[in-house]
Formats: sequence, structure tokens, C-alpha cells
Amino acid sequence: MSDKKFSRTLVTCALPYANGPVHIGHLAGVYVPADIYVRYLRMRGEDVLYICGSDEHGVPITIKARREGCTPQDIVDRYHRIIKDSFTGLGINFDIYSRTSSKVHEKNASDFFRRLYDKNDFIVKESEQYYDPEADEFLADRYITGTCPKCGAEGAYGDQCEKCGSTLSPEELIDPHSTLSGATPVKKKTSHWYLPLEKYEPWLREWILENHKEWRTNVYGQCKSWLDGGLLPRAVTRDLKWGVPVPVEGAEGKVLYVWFDAPIGYISNTIELLPDSWEKWWKKEDTRLVHFIGKDNIVFHCIVFPSMLKADGSYILPDNVPSNEFLNLEGDKISTSRNWAVWAHEYLKDFPGQQDVLRYVLCANAPEAKDNDFSWKDFQARNNNELVAIFGNFVNRAVVLTHKYFEGKVPAYTKAEPVDGEALGQIPALKESLQKSLEAFRFREALATAMNIARIGNKYLTDTEPWAVAKTDMERTGSILYVALQICADLAVAFEPFLPFSCEKLRNILDVCICAGTDHRAGEAVTENTYKEGECAALHTVSDAAATCPGAGKCVCLSWDKLGQRDIIPAGHQLNKAELLFSKIEDSVIEAQIARLEAIKAEREAAEKAKLAKVVAPQKEQISFEDFEKMDIRTATVLEAVKVPKTDKLLKLTIDTGIDTRTIVSGIAEYYTPEQMVGKQICILANLAPRTIKGIESRGMILMARQADGKMRFITPQEVLVNGAEIG
Ligand code: 2FM
Ligand code: ZN
Repeated sequence: MSDKKFSRTLVTCALPYANGPVHIGHLAGVYVPADIYVRYLRMRGEDVLYICGSDEHGVPITIKARREGCTPQDIVDRYHRIIKDSFTGLGINFDIYSRTSSKVHEKNASDFFRRLYDKNDFIVKESEQYYDPEADEFLADRYITGTCPKCGAEGAYGDQCEKCGSTLSPEELIDPHSTLSGATPVKKKTSHWYLPLEKYEPWLREWILENHKEWRTNVYGQCKSWLDGGLLPRAVTRDLKWGVPVPVEGAEGKVLYVWFDAPIGYISNTIELLPDSWEKWWKKEDTRLVHFIGKDNIVFHCIVFPSMLKADGSYILPDNVPSNEFLNLEGDKISTSRNWAVWAHEYLKDFPGQQDVLRYVLCANAPEAKDNDFSWKDFQARNNNELVAIFGNFVNRAVVLTHKYFEGKVPAYTKAEPVDGEALGQIPALKESLQKSLEAFRFREALATAMNIARIGNKYLTDTEPWAVAKTDMERTGSILYVALQICADLAVAFEPFLPFSCEKLRNILDVCICAGTDHRAGEAVTENTYKEGECAALHTVSDAAATCPGAGKCVCLSWDKLGQRDIIPAGHQLNKAELLFSKIEDSVIEAQIARLEAIKAEREAAEKAKLAKVVAPQKEQISFEDFEKMDIRTATVLEAVKVPKTDKLLKLTIDTGIDTRTIVSGIAEYYTPEQMVGKQICILANLAPRTIKGIESRGMILMARQADGKMRFITPQEVLVNGAEIG
């Protein structure tokens, strides 16, 4: 199906950090689409290797360990297990799910660095970095905290203030201190190895901007803007204890930067699985490499890792890097630290047997072109109105009626009518479009197309009414059910990439097996076919069902090729009992999930309020009553407001002070638009000496209160007063 020049496809999924469980944002962004893609390719008979694992290095893991009083290894052991089980629970079955703390990875990442080092591909640069003199350790930015210079919040990190969201550098923090010992960090010289990305820029421009115009717009656009901005050398080592030690002399206390070692993890995990044949997957030009990633990983997978591979020279490069945008939850950004997420492992506990519902909703709503929202109400609606009411209802009607009138045996097709051809005739075109969408990584569109097959089935039964026809014409009833059962089989094929659990159920009901392609979980050899004589509904692991299915001739074997054909299940084939594919999700179940999120939100808001209350500026120096009395503070009303040209922060306000109408220039534009100000009653300091600001004479000052988050709000009387009322 795909480009002839490729003989096999290597699919990698971003290695999740093992410092927390995976949530629906990860699933929708990376793992569900990748899994659909892999399942599809395998059904098409492609040889696919599917690689993932935990990303177990990096500073956040060491910080978490320190906070919890355990080792980084304890942390990654805990989350590696949870993440791995979540993937398995959701049917996301990588050929290998390993980890970057493995021995194989340590050696492979180390060797990779060493090869580039030996070829002089790195440059060494000396710089000054923060250092904790008491703990005798260099400090990553996250290990330095202090007061945010922008909003005054305490506990801002050396790279970011979580309160106001500002990006910071450790130099900007007020009163910085080390989180290791509390000591004030000092600057100390250190050397690091850098990959000179600028050297690869011309090649990257050609490779991406000229030769990969087909990449998704968001991916291509991000690459273009990085390249247009000019690339700089990137440090590939860090002064840290947790990570892969830098394997050269004079590098004691240094490890590989997590973003250097993590993508090498894809290769390491392939080596671990296929020690004798891994090179075929990474070094042969007829292997197609596809990285599924989140949008925050684009630069690393499209610019940095390819430059590393290019520097080495013996590896293939990605053919595509499909990346989604972000998924929000109930209108708010998903956040691990704020516990604003639906966690995969919790979902599996709360919704046993309903893995496919989540897979379905996350795909139907995938943030492919723009950020998207997950809401529990939508989840319920999609389950009840689509999976249950369309797909499940159709299959159930077809199978129940076959049992009712024909003892569960597929009836003969002896009495055709045009409506049959009209229904079945639409399926080949849908199959074409399904393939096109899947091959272009448009999974939402693909899912909608698959659902249209179920819609055709449902409409066919509604139009033909076999239950009514049965009163007078059993031959025609049989023919209708024959057609309906062929559509059921189509669904079992078309939905296999999306809803593997439900399709297995459906295969059981129809008593058919399916050819689902290669499987490398047991190593290079394709695993044994799971078919046992007399026991159908198997998932074949080889591509050519007819030739290699051990049950050939004894079972009904579906395959992608059969999708859209007219005689998939032969007359006379015995079905198993009907069973519901999907069940309705009740309001109470959804309400419980919403209540859980509301409780989290309420808790967070209370904590934020409590924190805000604490962040108040210290009292100023005392003044006398006479000093105070000098200030003429009054009520006034804004008559007009306009932006001061060529400034971001200033508004020119025309004020009715009760005494006169005057102009005040105020730095209020950061917080209010001119429209928001007009008509507002405010308080002003009326007797402030006039000042000329941007060529405008300003007479007075608007009284504003500064919030702990740095935002200012004007002061307004509780009820409208006359303008000019004195305040004191
Ligand atoms: O963003 C993340 O979760 C990273 N751990 C992804 C790493 S992808 C690859 F390079 F390993
Ligand atoms: Zn701040």
C-alpha cells in the first residue's frame, strides 16, 4: 500500500517521563493515534515494529525523589510500572516497552556519544553555572528558587514562576537559594559538550523545508520558525548525578542531557528486543521511520535528533513526525502538577471493560489541527449516541434477528432487492477513504468514515424492516439478514485499528477470526498463530490469512482485503450468541467524574487564595498625620479613555474630578481596555504635581491595588458617589 521503496515501518512513540502516570492528553496526542496506525498497517500486511519505553532521566525526577525522600530509581520504578500497565490495559501493545535506566540503553547512549566525540562532532564550551557551595553540586535551574521579579511570589523556580507563568533565568530571581541546602548559589565555571546545530542548518533546511512539505502544518511550521530563527550549539551534557554518565575522561559528575539520551532510547529498546537484527530497522534505507510525538517535542525530533543521527551517519531519518496539538480537560489546560487530568490507570479502574470508549472519544476528538477539549458530558454522549445507538444497536439487531429466525445460522442470499446493493455498494468507497485518511494520519476523519459503515447498516435495517417482512416472506428476511451480517463483518475489520476490544467481542459473536499482521513481541520471528481448531475469533499474526491460517478451510477468516466484499461470511455459518458490544453510561457515573474534578478545582482555588493572602508587601516607613493630610484623594469618573499611541501600557483618561475635567495618563492599559474604563467611578490622587508623559500633561494619579499575581485593579467606591468626594 505505501511507497514501494519501503519494505518495513518502524513506529516510535514519545517515551513518557516516568515521573507521573499518563493521562488523556498523552493518549490523545501520541499513543492512541500511533496504535491505530500500527494496527492498520499490520492489517494491510506491512511489517511493522512498534517501539516505546519510559524516559527515566531528567531533573524533575530527581526533584520528585528528593521531595519524597527516596531515590530517583524508586520514582521511575513506580511510574514505569503504572505507565506500562496503563498502555497494556488500553490495548496499546508495543513490541517492547523498555526504559532508559536499562543497561542496554546506558551502553547504547554512551557509545553513541562516544562515536560523535571521537569524530570531533562536538564542541566544548566553558560557561558559568550556578553552584551550591554547601552541597558541592551544580544546580539545574529547577534547583534554584527565589522570589519572582515579576509578581513577587515566593518559591519561583530558576526557569519559571509557576504563579504568574513568566519564563525566568536564575539571575533574575530575587534572593535565590539552592533547594539542596538552602545556600545562596554562586557562579562557577564548568565545561560542557555541545552539538553545533548551526552546522546542520543548510542540510536541515533542505531535508525538511524542501523534501518534507507533506509533514503536518504544525510540525512543518515549527521547524521553519526554528530554522528561520537560526540554530545555535546545544549542550548535550549536564552537571548532574542522575543520568547516563558522560563516557570520556574529565567528565566526572556529568551526565548526558536527558534530551540527548531519550531519543537514543528508541534505538536502545530496539536493540534490547532484537539484539541480532535491530540494524535492519535503523540503518536500512528501505525502512520507514515514523515518530509519533506531542507538540512540545517537535524541535527535538525534527531538528536535534536528526542532527545527531546525521552526525553519526549510519542511521536512517524519520520519514514523518506526526504530532498533535494539546487536549484540554473541561476547558482547562491539563496539568500533572495541578492534578487536572483524567489518568489512564484511574480510568481503567473506574470504567472496567470500557477501554474502547476512551480510545473512541480520544480519537473522535483528537487535537489534530488545533487544541481540543475533553469533557465528561461529551464522553457520555459519544458513547451513548454513537457507540451504543449506532454501532452496537446495529450489530445487536442483526445478530438477535438471525438467532430468532434462523437459529443463528447465516441465511442464504436468494432474494435480492436494489436496496441491498445500495447499502453494500457504498462500502468500497468508504474503505478507500478510510485508507486515505489513515495513511495521511487523519485519524478523526478515518474514525468518522468507519462509523459511517455502521450508519449504513443501521439505516439498512430500518429501511428493510426484517422483523416486519418475517411475517410474510422468510426468504427475503434471510436475504436481508445475510446483507446485514456482511456489514457486521465489515465493521469488525474497519474498527479493528480503533476499537480492538469491541472488535474481538464482535469476532466472538460472529465466530470469525481476523488476520492482523505481524507481531514482534516475541522477537524477530513472527509469533505463532493463536488459532486453535474449533476455536475461532483469533487474531492472526501473519498477513496472508488464506495461505497461512492454520484453521484455513475450517474457519471464517476476515482480513483488510475482505472489507467491502459481498460475501465475507458464507451462508450456513453458525453465529455465537448475541452480546452487547457497548453499554449505556448513566448520568450518575458521569456526575461522579465531574464531582471529582470540581473537588480538585475547589481545593486548588482555596490553596491559591490562602497563598495570595500571604503574599503582601511589607509595611512602609511610618508617616505623620500631617503627611497623610497633604494628600487630596477624591472620587472621579472616567469620561473618555484612549490608548496613548506607540505604547502598550498607557491610557489617556479624561476625568471628571468634580472640581474640573482633566487629563490623567495612567499605566492601566495592561489591565483594562479603554472601553472598560469609560463611565467607571475611580479614586484619584488629585494634587499630585503634574507630569508630562509621552508629551501629554498628566494631572493626578489613579489609585490602584496590586494583586499578588502582579495584576492591578482600580479602586472604586462601593456605591456611586458624587465626583470630587474627599477620601480620608
Ligand atoms: O515530553 C516527554 O514526555 C518526553 N519524555 C518525550 C521524550 S521522547 C523521546 F525523545 F524519547
Ligand atoms: Zn511570578
